[in-house]
Amino acid sequence: MLRSLDDLEDISKIDAGNMLGAINRFPDFLVDAAHFSPLDVRSSLSPHNIVLMGMGGSASAADVLLDWLQDRITVPVSVVRDCALPRFVGPKTLFMAVSYSGETVETLAAFDEARKRRCITAAVGSGGRLQTICSRVKVPFLKVSSGLVPRAALSQMVGAGAVMLQSFGVVGDVRAGLLEAGRELIRIRGQLRAEVPLSRNRAKHVALRLEGRLPVIYCLQRMSSVARRAKNQFAENSKLVAKYDLLPEAGHNEVEAWQGRNPHMLPVLVHDSKESREESTVFRAFKAVLRKVGEVRPLEVRTGASSALGRLLGPVLFLDYVSVYLAFLRGVDPTPTFGIGEYRRLNSEMRR
Ligand code: PA5
Repeated sequence: MLRSLDDLEDISKIDAGNMLGAINRFPDFLVDAAHFSPLDVRSSLSPHNIVLMGMGGSASAADVLLDWLQDRITVPVSVVRDCALPRFVGPKTLFMAVSYSGETVETLAAFDEARKRRCITAAVGSGGRLQTICSRVKVPFLKVSSGLVPRAALSQMVGAGAVMLQSFGVVGDVRAGLLEAGRELIRIRGQLRAEVPLSRNRAKHVALRLEGRLPVIYCLQRMSSVARRAKNQFAENSKLVAKYDLLPEAGHNEVEAWQGRNPHMLPVLVHDSKESREESTVFRAFKAVLRKVGEVRPLEVRTGASSALGRLLGPVLFLDYVSVYLAFLRGVDPTPTFGIGEYRRLNSEMRR
């Protein structure tokens, strides 16, 4: 059992798959992604809408792309997590498959369907059948480095997805934004890595407060990628059920559920460093009600990143660290994902 979150020797015994190492490299992967070269896609068609399709960790990368770039893209963009594609998807859709392994059956099926509907297609990932199909049918494919678990490849997948969108001309040059965010994340990593003692490490504090509780994450609707990623990281790394909801909507329904004492749950409010006055008011009002009706003092996450992408990936990195520290407190190796492996195996077998 772990004696303290500052005991690096004990941590390395629990962290047999070295998830901490993968999270430490998250900012570096983003800096590397800033050096991807846009592809020469030779598409004369300008898409009328964009679908980013993927599952799990890869879909989280698509969510971040959407939150980051949707203000800069003039056509509707959606993230789809299903092989059944919406009715509007057709020849004027840019369909980008996002799959780290390139072996996810839902993503391969959706990609196949997108080709049948004559979409403009593209893909990003580290290889697998998706890459093989793309090279056979000459679909642009942007390759990231292999050998990670998909959730640890988020920053690379965001970088590759953004550069692919740039290649199709739907967004301008993204690489300065990747680099700037990468540098901000390097600074944030310096405050949160395991070598930084509990007395100065906010991610360790948050993990300790969450021990034995169900994390309930709240953030602004425009940062939903961050909240969903955190919920998934608590599941996959800490092996804990967590949930999330979005503001201001949660103030109109879920806040009611905090009435009375709920000692088994703890709210985590994830802030943006550039909240508008209206948004800060929403947070203040929500927090005040939690305190009043739920007698609970929420945890708050702020990272101080200031670039558009850093303001999303800063909190993602912070909560990634929290999820592994919580795993260590529970004596759990964050890397293996037996349940996901079984689901993937059975889902493939049962389709045959
Ligand atoms: O984190 C994980 O391992 C999963 O959520 C995977 O990302 C998910 O199964 C989809 O796989 P891939 O990202 O390789 O398409």
